[in-house]
Amino acid sequence: MNPALGLLHPYPFERLRSLFAGVMPPADLPHINMGIGEPQHPTPKVLLDAIHANLGLLSKYPPTGGTPEFLTAVAGWIHRRYGVEVDSSRQILPVSGSREGLFAVAQAIIDPSTRPVVLLPNPFYQIYEGAAIMSGAEPFYVPTVAGTQFLPDFSVVPAEVWPRVQLVYLCSPGNPTGAVMSSEHYKSLTQLADEFDFLIVSDEPYSELYQSEPPYGGIQTQHPRVVVLNSLSKRSSAPGLRSGFIFGAPDVMDKIRLHRTYHGAAPSSVVQQASAVAWSHEAHVDENRRLYREKFEVCQPMVNQVLPCEIPAGGFFLWAKIPESSRWAGSDETFARELYATANVTVLPGTYLAREANGQNPGAGYVRIALVADLATCVRAADAMRELEKN
Ligand SMILES: Cc1ncc(COP(=O)(O)O)c(C=O)c1O
Repeated sequence: MNPALGLLHPYPFERLRSLFAGVMPPADLPHINMGIGEPQHPTPKVLLDAIHANLGLLSKYPPTGGTPEFLTAVAGWIHRRYGVEVDSSRQILPVSGSREGLFAVAQAIIDPSTRPVVLLPNPFYQIYEGAAIMSGAEPFYVPTVAGTQFLPDFSVVPAEVWPRVQLVYLCSPGNPTGAVMSSEHYKSLTQLADEFDFLIVSDEPYSELYQSEPPYGGIQTQHPRVVVLNSLSKRSSAPGLRSGFIFGAPDVMDKIRLHRTYHGAAPSSVVQQASAVAWSHEAHVDENRRLYREKFEVCQPMVNQVLPCEIPAGGFFLWAKIPESSRWAGSDETFARELYATANVTVLPGTYLAREANGQNPGAGYVRIALVADLATCVRAADAMRELEKN
């Protein structure tokens, strides 16, 4: 067996199952799941229609390099969104959801023979860590905490580590904090990438779910060491479609394309053609954004009465702090367990989304609340949190 498998950590939802083991929530209250970031808004009709219209393509193998319609649609979206012209035949590839692409890119890029290091934000989306480990690299956790506006603090990376860095994962807007990186943040990191010869993989599935300004994107750096992943899961509320793209400079993408030819994870042509329609259509995304904004406006003040939190710049999570002075004494696990036991509402303890580094787990004392259900359901859950405080 591959010994790296033994280094993988349990997934956050496994840990949540253990935390809730033996707890019996009230049977008369329907379960409200705010633990998992799975969009619950209806899948847009344009997308469903496009799936139906293309079902005949099930009789064909999908092209690894992308259908012409998919590549053109993504290039068109990139141009409209970021004002950047791209060579669609060389700079874009379809992926079966960004999760798969995030994992695969490390396997294609990392040279395991040179004690490689992969930097990742902490807390983080767990795939970055698994991808690093399975590629033979050592993960190095870069804190994204309140003191740095939840942006990665690369000053903690020791001088002797930088020459070993081969890949840096970024997440903007961040999961779980919703923080957005500016062009200056990208610039300071691309300078380091040039100096130490590493690749930046910018994970941006929440790029279209923002409050006021559309977030800056890695594509806008136009830097040859920046690879970007995006997907339709959040933008188009279609996590089951498993459709996203990787973008990068032609020479890097040639390597990734070669890897993907063998990896064999190209989305079905049905999915690619339907995705082309979704990337070309913005009205459903506007509506999606409106729904999330409405939920933030209503729910954040309610949750904030119990757990201090702010409306984030992007994404659909509240990253809420458990006060030390509360009866949960700052424990995210105690809060999550009690909320589940009394109200049948699931939130994710921040501890499970981060790793201890330098004696500290930067997710500890927070819970991640995914505002994915409809407004009324989110309000019921926020109310349950307020009730909990009264007990
Ligand atoms: C930060 C982040 N990246 C990537 C993904 C994976 O998304 P996809 O559905 O495109 O695989 C998620 C999903 O929750 C996420 O939160």
